Amino acid sequence: MKALIAAGGRATRLRPITWTINKHLIPLANKPMLWYVLKKVTDAGIKDIIINVNPGEVAEMSRVLGDGSEFGARVTYVEQRGGAKGLAHVVANAEEHLQGERFLFFLGDNIILGSINRFVERFQQENLDCMIALSRVKDPQRFGVAEFHPDGSLKRTVEKPQDPPSDFAVTGIYLFDEKFFEAFKTVAPSARGEYEITDVITWYIEHGKTGHEEITGWWKDTGTPDALIEGNALIMDDLPREAFCVACDVPDGAQVQGMVTIGKGTRVSPDCLIRGPVVIGEDCDIHGSYIGPYTAIGNGVKIHNSEVEHSIVLSGATIDTARRIVNSLIGQNATLVDSQRTHPKTGHRLIVGDNSLVEL
Ligand code: G1P
Repeated sequence: MKALIAAGGRATRLRPITWTINKHLIPLANKPMLWYVLKKVTDAGIKDIIINVNPGEVAEMSRVLGDGSEFGARVTYVEQRGGAKGLAHVVANAEEHLQGERFLFFLGDNIILGSINRFVERFQQENLDCMIALSRVKDPQRFGVAEFHPDGSLKRTVEKPQDPPSDFAVTGIYLFDEKFFEAFKTVAPSARGEYEITDVITWYIEHGKTGHEEITGWWKDTGTPDALIEGNALIMDDLPREAFCVACDVPDGAQVQGMVTIGKGTRVSPDCLIRGPVVIGEDCDIHGSYIGPYTAIGNGVKIHNSEVEHSIVLSGATIDTARRIVNSLIGQNATLVDSQRTHPKTGHRLIVGDNSLVEL
């Protein structure tokens, strides 16, 4: 089997972060989001992987993710041609690589805990034509949604319905057989101008054997800052104990509690308290600070006289403030300092990118 991973798109809800980094490369627990997807796909035994990227992003993606050899796999990067026209179009764009194949289609911003092996095995063992993973959600209007017959079998899937027929979202983990491209030809663009993957799935429900499984563990599409921060925390909870390691000298007096990773070259002053799970990158400077649970700190970050908790701090950022920073996503090379440092002392001096959120 092959796998296609979708890693394009503009990720407008994650701006300004996504002005400079593809959403799928945003680190969770200091590894790019796609790293976890590649791990899940290769753990399921699929080693021939195509990653769909935005035009012009192949070099950056392959620099960060490599050629797949880290996972014993082969990764081919494919640029999206013809613009962003929906998920079914993303698959059609990779037709030359998937023609005649049974394949897994995985949206690179979908993070799940646990393995996808059971799902892939059932698709193969029962020789299904299509298989979808469903998850119960509180806000089905935001997703593709499954509709069922009274006997519990699938009737169709519908994209972002105003009046959802069930609370089962169609997650971004799909399996298709080689008839995908035949199905695609029957699909017309939706009202939002996209070739909807839910229309292809409905074709399969009507023309072949389509299975569904419920993801009972945690599933999230990491489209918003809150979802990213939550994803970061859940991934840290899921990391095995041996994934944590302190690779620098921690001085007497500094308290490092629970599961903590600290990269080499990072300096920690004696008056710090680091309470895991926490992941800190290389060459950081942590001075007189408290780093609380579920915080991921990239490389080269300076945190002085501050308290940071349940947050993602990207590389090169500086935090030096008496205010406690919580539930935050701090971009690369961003600076957070107290306003009292500069005149006029009562003012806040802000250089804030488009679509930023600042709570003062
Ligand atoms: C896409 C799909 C939708 C699916 C969702 C899962 O939505 O169109 O059917 O439920 O991914 O993440 P989008 O993220 O493009 O809004």
